[in-house]
Amino acid sequence: MILDGKQTSAKILDMVKDRVSALDKKPHLVVILVGDNPASKIYVRNKQKAALQVGIQSTIIELPKETTEAELLDKIEELNNNSDVTGMLVQLPLPEHINKNKVVTAISPKKDVDGFNPENVGRLAIGLEPYFYPATPQGIIMLLDEYNIPIKGADAVVIGRSNIVGKPMAQMLLKRNATVTICHSFTQNIEDKIKTADIVISAVGKKIVRCKMVKKNSVIVDVGIFKNENGQLTGDVDFDVVSPSAGFISPVPGGVGPMTIASLMLNASKVYQ
Ligand code: GUN
Repeated sequence: MILDGKQTSAKILDMVKDRVSALDKKPHLVVILVGDNPASKIYVRNKQKAALQVGIQSTIIELPKETTEAELLDKIEELNNNSDVTGMLVQLPLPEHINKNKVVTAISPKKDVDGFNPENVGRLAIGLEPYFYPATPQGIIMLLDEYNIPIKGADAVVIGRSNIVGKPMAQMLLKRNATVTICHSFTQNIEDKIKTADIVISAVGKKIVRCKMVKKNSVIVDVGIFKNENGQLTGDVDFDVVSPSAGFISPVPGGVGPMTIASLMLNASKVYQ
Protein backbone atom coordinates (compact mmCIF):
# COMPACT_ATOMS: atom_id res chain seq x y z
CA MET A 1 0.00 0.00 0.00
CA ILE A 2 1.15 3.50 -0.82
CA LEU A 3 1.57 5.98 2.03
CA ASP A 4 -0.08 8.86 0.22
CA GLY A 5 1.48 12.05 1.53
CA LYS A 6 -0.34 14.25 -0.93
CA GLN A 7 -3.79 13.15 0.16
CA THR A 8 -2.93 13.06 3.87
CA SER A 9 -1.28 16.49 3.79
CA ALA A 10 -4.36 17.97 2.11
CA LYS A 11 -6.48 16.71 5.01
CA ILE A 12 -4.09 18.22 7.53
CA LEU A 13 -3.97 21.55 5.70
CA ASP A 14 -7.79 21.67 5.77
CA MET A 15 -7.71 21.02 9.51
CA VAL A 16 -5.06 23.72 10.01
CA LYS A 17 -7.11 26.16 7.97
CA ASP A 18 -10.14 25.63 10.23
CA ARG A 19 -7.96 25.99 13.28
CA VAL A 20 -6.42 29.24 12.04
CA SER A 21 -9.80 30.76 11.23
CA ALA A 22 -10.92 30.14 14.81
CA LEU A 23 -7.88 31.84 16.38
CA ASP A 24 -8.12 35.24 18.04
CA LYS A 25 -4.51 36.11 17.45
CA LYS A 26 -3.60 35.39 13.83
CA PRO A 27 -0.33 33.57 13.26
CA HIS A 28 2.44 35.26 11.30
CA LEU A 29 5.31 33.13 10.02
CA VAL A 30 8.60 34.74 9.02
CA VAL A 31 11.00 32.72 6.88
CA ILE A 32 14.56 33.98 6.57
CA LEU A 33 16.54 32.95 3.51
CA VAL A 34 20.23 33.81 3.39
CA GLY A 35 21.95 33.60 -0.01
CA ASP A 36 20.62 32.17 -3.23
CA ASN A 37 20.63 28.38 -2.94
CA PRO A 38 18.15 27.41 -5.71
CA ALA A 39 16.65 24.44 -3.82
CA SER A 40 16.15 26.60 -0.71
CA LYS A 41 14.36 29.22 -2.78
CA ILE A 42 11.89 26.60 -3.99
CA TYR A 43 11.34 25.23 -0.46
CA VAL A 44 10.74 28.73 0.90
CA ARG A 45 8.28 29.54 -1.86
CA ASN A 46 6.39 26.29 -1.20
CA LYS A 47 6.17 27.14 2.49
CA GLN A 48 4.74 30.54 1.67
CA LYS A 49 2.23 29.03 -0.75
CA ALA A 50 1.01 26.62 1.92
CA ALA A 51 0.79 29.42 4.50
CA LEU A 52 -1.40 31.47 2.18
CA GLN A 53 -3.59 28.42 1.56
CA VAL A 54 -4.34 27.99 5.28
CA GLY A 55 -4.67 31.69 6.10
CA ILE A 56 -1.35 32.14 7.86
CA GLN A 57 0.33 35.45 7.18
CA SER A 58 3.81 34.83 5.86
CA THR A 59 6.79 37.04 5.23
CA ILE A 60 9.99 36.01 3.48
CA ILE A 61 13.10 37.95 4.44
CA GLU A 62 15.79 37.48 1.81
CA LEU A 63 19.28 38.40 2.93
CA PRO A 64 22.37 38.46 0.71
CA LYS A 65 24.91 35.64 1.03
CA GLU A 66 27.45 38.13 2.45
CA THR A 67 25.23 38.72 5.51
CA THR A 68 27.36 38.35 8.63
CA GLU A 69 26.47 36.03 11.48
CA ALA A 70 26.05 39.08 13.75
CA GLU A 71 23.63 40.71 11.31
CA LEU A 72 21.56 37.55 11.10
CA LEU A 73 21.51 37.19 14.90
CA ASP A 74 20.38 40.84 15.18
CA LYS A 75 17.53 40.20 12.75
CA ILE A 76 16.44 37.14 14.77
CA GLU A 77 16.53 39.17 17.99
CA GLU A 78 14.37 41.83 16.38
CA LEU A 79 11.82 39.18 15.33
CA ASN A 80 11.93 37.56 18.79
CA ASN A 81 10.90 40.92 20.23
CA ASN A 82 8.22 41.62 17.63
CA SER A 83 4.92 40.43 19.09
CA ASP A 84 3.29 40.45 15.61
CA VAL A 85 5.61 37.60 14.62
CA THR A 86 4.43 34.29 16.10
CA GLY A 87 6.79 31.90 14.31
CA MET A 88 10.05 32.01 12.41
CA LEU A 89 12.57 29.79 10.74
CA VAL A 90 15.90 30.26 9.04
CA GLN A 91 16.11 28.11 5.94
CA LEU A 92 19.10 25.75 5.96
CA PRO A 93 21.77 25.33 4.67
CA LEU A 94 23.42 28.63 5.58
CA PRO A 95 26.56 30.06 4.00
CA GLU A 96 29.67 28.52 5.56
CA HIS A 97 30.70 31.61 7.54
CA ILE A 98 27.50 31.40 9.62
CA ASN A 99 27.27 28.89 12.47
CA LYS A 100 23.84 27.24 12.19
CA ASN A 101 23.86 26.09 15.80
CA LYS A 102 24.28 29.67 16.99
CA VAL A 103 21.41 30.69 14.73
CA VAL A 104 18.93 28.08 15.93
CA THR A 105 19.94 28.82 19.53
CA ALA A 106 19.07 32.50 19.01
CA ILE A 107 15.47 31.80 17.93
CA SER A 108 12.99 32.05 20.79
CA PRO A 109 11.84 28.47 21.63
CA LYS A 110 8.22 29.66 21.50
CA LYS A 111 8.63 30.94 17.92
CA ASP A 112 10.89 28.09 16.76
CA VAL A 113 8.48 26.43 14.31
CA ASP A 114 11.28 24.11 13.09
CA GLY A 115 11.83 22.77 16.60
CA PHE A 116 15.61 23.12 16.16
CA ASN A 117 16.35 25.32 19.19
CA PRO A 118 18.26 23.36 21.87
CA GLU A 119 15.47 23.97 24.38
CA ASN A 120 12.97 22.24 22.09
CA VAL A 121 15.46 19.49 21.20
CA GLY A 122 16.20 18.98 24.89
CA ARG A 123 12.54 18.98 25.86
CA LEU A 124 11.88 16.21 23.35
CA ALA A 125 14.90 14.26 24.61
CA ILE A 126 13.93 14.35 28.30
CA GLY A 127 10.22 13.76 27.81
CA LEU A 128 8.94 17.32 28.29
CA GLU A 129 6.55 18.56 25.64
CA PRO A 130 8.53 20.74 23.20
CA TYR A 131 6.87 23.93 21.95
CA PHE A 132 7.34 22.55 18.43
CA TYR A 133 8.34 19.18 16.97
CA PRO A 134 10.59 19.24 13.88
CA ALA A 135 8.38 19.26 10.80
CA THR A 136 9.65 16.25 8.86
CA PRO A 137 9.60 13.67 11.68
CA GLN A 138 6.27 15.04 12.94
CA GLY A 139 4.88 14.72 9.40
CA ILE A 140 6.12 11.13 9.17
CA ILE A 141 4.48 10.21 12.48
CA MET A 142 1.22 11.77 11.25
CA LEU A 143 1.50 9.74 8.03
CA LEU A 144 2.04 6.49 9.96
CA ASP A 145 -0.90 7.34 12.23
CA GLU A 146 -3.13 8.08 9.24
CA TYR A 147 -2.62 4.48 8.08
CA ASN A 148 -2.96 3.10 11.63
CA ILE A 149 0.54 1.68 11.54
CA PRO A 150 1.53 0.46 15.00
CA ILE A 151 4.65 2.16 16.37
CA LYS A 152 4.61 0.84 19.93
CA GLY A 153 6.93 -2.15 20.19
CA ALA A 154 7.94 -1.96 16.52
CA ASP A 155 11.57 -2.43 15.49
CA ALA A 156 12.36 0.84 13.70
CA VAL A 157 15.50 1.58 11.71
CA VAL A 158 16.31 5.22 11.00
CA ILE A 159 18.97 5.73 8.35
CA GLY A 160 20.69 9.11 8.73
CA ARG A 161 21.50 11.07 11.89
CA SER A 162 20.93 14.69 10.94
CA ASN A 163 19.57 17.23 13.40
CA ILE A 164 16.75 17.95 10.95
CA VAL A 165 15.46 14.41 10.42
CA GLY A 166 17.38 11.40 11.77
CA LYS A 167 17.94 12.38 15.38
CA PRO A 168 14.49 13.91 16.09
CA MET A 169 12.87 11.00 14.18
CA ALA A 170 14.58 8.53 16.49
CA GLN A 171 13.47 10.52 19.55
CA MET A 172 9.88 10.68 18.37
CA LEU A 173 9.75 6.95 17.62
CA LEU A 174 11.25 6.26 21.03
CA LYS A 175 8.61 8.48 22.62
CA ARG A 176 6.01 6.26 20.93
CA ASN A 177 7.74 3.17 22.37
CA ALA A 178 9.42 1.79 19.27
CA THR A 179 12.78 0.05 19.54
CA VAL A 180 15.01 2.33 17.51
CA THR A 181 18.26 1.68 15.67
CA ILE A 182 20.02 4.64 14.06
CA CYS A 183 22.24 3.81 11.08
CA HIS A 184 24.79 6.15 9.50
CA SER A 185 27.84 6.19 7.26
CA PHE A 186 29.90 4.10 9.69
CA THR A 187 27.23 1.45 10.29
CA GLN A 188 28.37 -2.03 9.31
CA ASN A 189 26.08 -4.51 7.54
CA ILE A 190 23.27 -2.04 7.13
CA GLU A 191 21.31 -4.63 5.10
CA ASP A 192 21.12 -6.87 8.17
CA LYS A 193 19.50 -4.04 10.12
CA ILE A 194 17.06 -3.21 7.33
CA LYS A 195 15.88 -6.77 6.84
CA THR A 196 14.79 -7.21 10.45
CA ALA A 197 13.01 -3.84 10.74
CA ASP A 198 9.25 -3.39 10.94
CA ILE A 199 9.65 0.29 10.05
CA VAL A 200 12.49 1.72 7.93
CA ILE A 201 12.89 5.49 7.63
CA SER A 202 15.62 6.55 5.23
CA ALA A 203 16.91 10.13 5.20
CA VAL A 204 20.25 10.01 3.45
CA GLY A 205 20.01 11.56 -0.02
CA LYS A 206 21.34 8.61 -1.98
CA LYS A 207 20.03 5.23 -3.14
CA ILE A 208 20.64 3.15 -0.07
CA VAL A 209 17.59 0.91 0.39
CA ARG A 210 18.10 -1.27 -2.65
CA CYS A 211 17.97 -4.81 -1.41
CA LYS A 212 14.96 -7.06 -1.79
CA MET A 213 15.62 -7.94 1.81
CA VAL A 214 13.17 -5.63 3.48
CA LYS A 215 11.05 -7.64 5.88
CA LYS A 216 7.75 -8.92 4.51
CA ASN A 217 4.97 -6.40 5.23
CA SER A 218 7.38 -3.82 6.64
CA VAL A 219 6.77 -0.09 6.43
CA ILE A 220 9.21 1.86 4.26
CA VAL A 221 9.36 5.66 4.53
CA ASP A 222 11.54 7.50 2.04
CA VAL A 223 12.69 10.95 3.13
CA GLY A 224 15.37 11.32 0.45
CA ILE A 225 14.79 13.53 -2.55
CA PHE A 226 17.45 14.22 -5.15
CA LYS A 227 18.05 14.10 -8.89
CA ASN A 228 19.51 10.87 -10.28
CA GLU A 229 22.01 10.67 -13.16
CA ASN A 230 19.13 11.05 -15.65
CA GLY A 231 17.93 14.21 -13.95
CA GLN A 232 14.81 12.54 -12.50
CA LEU A 233 13.60 13.29 -8.99
CA THR A 234 14.11 10.17 -6.89
CA GLY A 235 14.43 8.97 -3.29
CA ASP A 236 16.66 6.76 -1.13
CA VAL A 237 14.57 3.66 -1.81
CA ASP A 238 14.66 1.55 -4.95
CA PHE A 239 10.88 1.56 -5.14
CA ASP A 240 10.43 -1.15 -7.79
CA VAL A 241 12.63 -3.68 -6.00
CA VAL A 242 11.44 -2.97 -2.48
CA SER A 243 7.70 -2.36 -2.91
CA PRO A 244 6.62 -5.98 -3.62
CA SER A 245 7.82 -7.04 -0.16
CA ALA A 246 6.77 -3.93 1.76
CA GLY A 247 3.40 -3.63 3.47
CA PHE A 248 3.44 0.15 3.13
CA ILE A 249 5.80 2.40 1.20
CA SER A 250 5.99 6.14 0.68
CA PRO A 251 6.59 7.40 -2.86
CA VAL A 252 8.98 10.16 -3.98
CA PRO A 253 7.60 12.63 -4.83
CA GLY A 254 4.21 12.67 -3.07
CA GLY A 255 5.18 11.05 0.21
CA VAL A 256 7.16 12.77 2.93
CA GLY A 257 7.63 16.10 1.09
CA PRO A 258 4.01 17.30 1.26
CA MET A 259 3.72 15.95 4.82
CA THR A 260 6.66 18.12 5.89
CA ILE A 261 4.96 21.24 4.57
CA ALA A 262 1.62 20.36 6.22
CA SER A 263 3.42 19.60 9.47
CA LEU A 264 5.20 22.95 9.34
CA MET A 265 1.87 24.70 8.81
CA LEU A 266 0.46 22.87 11.82
CA ASN A 267 3.40 24.26 13.79
CA ALA A 268 2.99 27.72 12.34
CA SER A 269 -0.66 27.72 13.45
CA LYS A 270 0.44 27.40 17.10
CA VAL A 271 0.59 30.79 18.76
CA TYR A 272 2.33 31.16 22.11
CA GLN A 273 2.02 34.42 24.00
N1 GUN B 1 16.47 22.60 5.07
C1 GUN B 1 16.09 21.32 4.82
N2 GUN B 1 15.08 20.97 5.66
C2 GUN B 1 14.85 22.05 6.43
C3 GUN B 1 13.92 22.30 7.48
O1 GUN B 1 13.11 21.46 7.89
N3 GUN B 1 13.99 23.54 8.03
C4 GUN B 1 14.87 24.47 7.63
N4 GUN B 1 14.86 25.65 8.24
N5 GUN B 1 15.74 24.28 6.66
C5 GUN B 1 15.73 23.06 6.08
